[in-house]
Amino acid sequence: MTQDGSHAIDVLLREKRLYKPSAAFQKRARIRSLPALRSIIARARRNPPGFWAKAARDIQWMKPWKKILDWRPPHARWFVGGALNVSANCLDRHLEGPRRNKAALIWEGEPGDSRVLTYHELHAETSRFANVLKSLGVRKGDCVGIYMPAVPEAVVAMLACARIGAMHNVVFGGFSAQALRERLVDSKARVLVTADGGWRRGQIVPLKGVADEALAGAPGVEHVVVFKRAANAVGWVEGRDLWWHELMLAAPRDCPAVPVDAENPLYILYTSGSTGKPKGVLHTTGGYLVQTALTSKWVFDLRDEDVYWCTADIGWVTGHSYVVYGPLACGATVLLYEGAPFHPEPDRLWSIIEKRGVSVFYTAPTAIRACMRFGDDWPRKHDLSSLRLLGSVGEPINPEAWLWYYRVIGGSRCPVVDTWWQTETGAILITPVPGATPMKPGSATMPFPGIEADVVDRQGRPVKPGKGGYLVVRKPWPSMLRGIFGDPKRYKSQYFDPIPGAYFSGDGARKDADGYFWVLGRIDDVINVSGHRLSTMEIESALVSHPAVSEAAVVGRPDEIQGQAITAFVTLKAGASSNAGLKDELRAHVVRAIGPLAKPSDIRFAEALPKTRSGKIMRRLLRELAGSGRTQGDITTLEDFTVLSKLQSGGEEES
Ligand code: WT7
Repeated sequence: MTQDGSHAIDVLLREKRLYKPSAAFQKRARIRSLPALRSIIARARRNPPGFWAKAARDIQWMKPWKKILDWRPPHARWFVGGALNVSANCLDRHLEGPRRNKAALIWEGEPGDSRVLTYHELHAETSRFANVLKSLGVRKGDCVGIYMPAVPEAVVAMLACARIGAMHNVVFGGFSAQALRERLVDSKARVLVTADGGWRRGQIVPLKGVADEALAGAPGVEHVVVFKRAANAVGWVEGRDLWWHELMLAAPRDCPAVPVDAENPLYILYTSGSTGKPKGVLHTTGGYLVQTALTSKWVFDLRDEDVYWCTADIGWVTGHSYVVYGPLACGATVLLYEGAPFHPEPDRLWSIIEKRGVSVFYTAPTAIRACMRFGDDWPRKHDLSSLRLLGSVGEPINPEAWLWYYRVIGGSRCPVVDTWWQTETGAILITPVPGATPMKPGSATMPFPGIEADVVDRQGRPVKPGKGGYLVVRKPWPSMLRGIFGDPKRYKSQYFDPIPGAYFSGDGARKDADGYFWVLGRIDDVINVSGHRLSTMEIESALVSHPAVSEAAVVGRPDEIQGQAITAFVTLKAGASSNAGLKDELRAHVVRAIGPLAKPSDIRFAEALPKTRSGKIMRRLLRELAGSGRTQGDITTLEDFTVLSKLQSGGEEES
């Protein structure tokens, strides 16, 4: 129960209420009213490329583009013929004026150490590291793997790649050796940048050790650069492994940013899709920078005096677009925190906000719900009056969590921007524009100007207000993915074949009578755990690689904190015995194969899985079983009815 005594029923009523941006916020906002926003949207709709071309004037180009958009469905090229450099836009550009000695990064380490890097310093470090990469033979078009804790050097490594026209492939530091290896091999990385370790929940995560294991099966990686962060003991392969600090001492300070084509690849980032194999989503340079910069400016309303904090790890797209590229292109001061959100106490986030005077804060619903559960006393211990804008991303935010965030963290004075987007979209597509959009708790509200999103049926026809359908985007946008690395066919089949004439997001949604979007979540075999997209098939294939397992089906079950929790139904090979020890072993097995994020919360052993006559596992039934414990709806296609009753009776078993 919240302080003013609202509970679930109350919240349901409030859900219909509009939260208008405060007059104080509106007064200094860039876009100050709904009519003003609507007229920008209307103008952009008449000429989307024209809208984006105007936004592109905020970016520094080394060569002007000849054509704004070249759209040969499903392939888009933006700012054709233009040349620029992302690192020059994020760094060099700011050195010419008063931002030169402004903090670019304020870093908080988990153990309590901290560092501040000015734009001048970040530029110097990046230039030096770009020279290091060059000295290791990295050339334009090559790929560099980055497997780092959230330290400034991770940002330096990304910007250094961009500076010389190389691509990066950042792999989240929580991924296992096997997952890292797959991504290094698939992206053809030549160099890996890692650290000895990083701090998380008071422990050292031995990144270099994991990397060594991964590299045993990734012969394409010629060099490993190791940043010393945690001073833990590490293995060393002479000739292959090199210390960051030693290379930096020897590297020259100057490294001009090279002009690259607007469509030059900037990075690959792996995300889950419905076939089980992670997809290397490819993003390019010009359009990506234009849209991440504009959305940073309009959605987060970034100002020079702000301290902006996005809690996402740089291993996810949110870390790419809204820790590094968008905010730095705007010349913002970005806070970076290394560790776990509740370490050493559940008020770590609030204590950092107070210490650094954070004004714009962007996090995920799963973190908000976890904070809510720890209770209001933790945030109340801190002065959060520096906050002026809050953001949410990663999954639908339930109205109760939205209201808690708005009231307890934002003191009922900060707009909450619930931003919908994806790894593939590169930047925010559906969001309130603070200062203009009245908010409805739980709704990402309306498409950003220049974005033609809609909710449609299988044939691509708009569905009636209030009805559920598929969330699509009808027109190309600058930061859209340009393909799936190494698998051109999958780009079309995954995103453009399912619904005629549109990009299909894989999400279900409904639009209400006011035109507000309510995202319902994934409709494919992908589940969203704590805001991270995981492929059920990837987890299944990890499970069946265990010698005791014959078949596995993984589904999501609603979970209060994580959004969805992973439930695995497993059938065993003859002779294997189903005991609690085996459950633990299977959990550990999945963690080894993918990482702790993918660890099933429940494992249920079954004699058989429900299948159709053609042999397809009926996941819908399993989802229902995992959720409510019962199945509803049509089961006529089920091959063997006894399977279901056996599963139901065994369903109470504790895992
Ligand atoms: C999926 C994309 C975009 C960065 C984080 C995740 C879900 C994301 C919202 C939101 C409802 C959301 C969708 C989407 N999602 N933001 N504001 N409201 N759902 O990136 O791993 O590519 O996941 O996250 O299901 O498709 P991602």
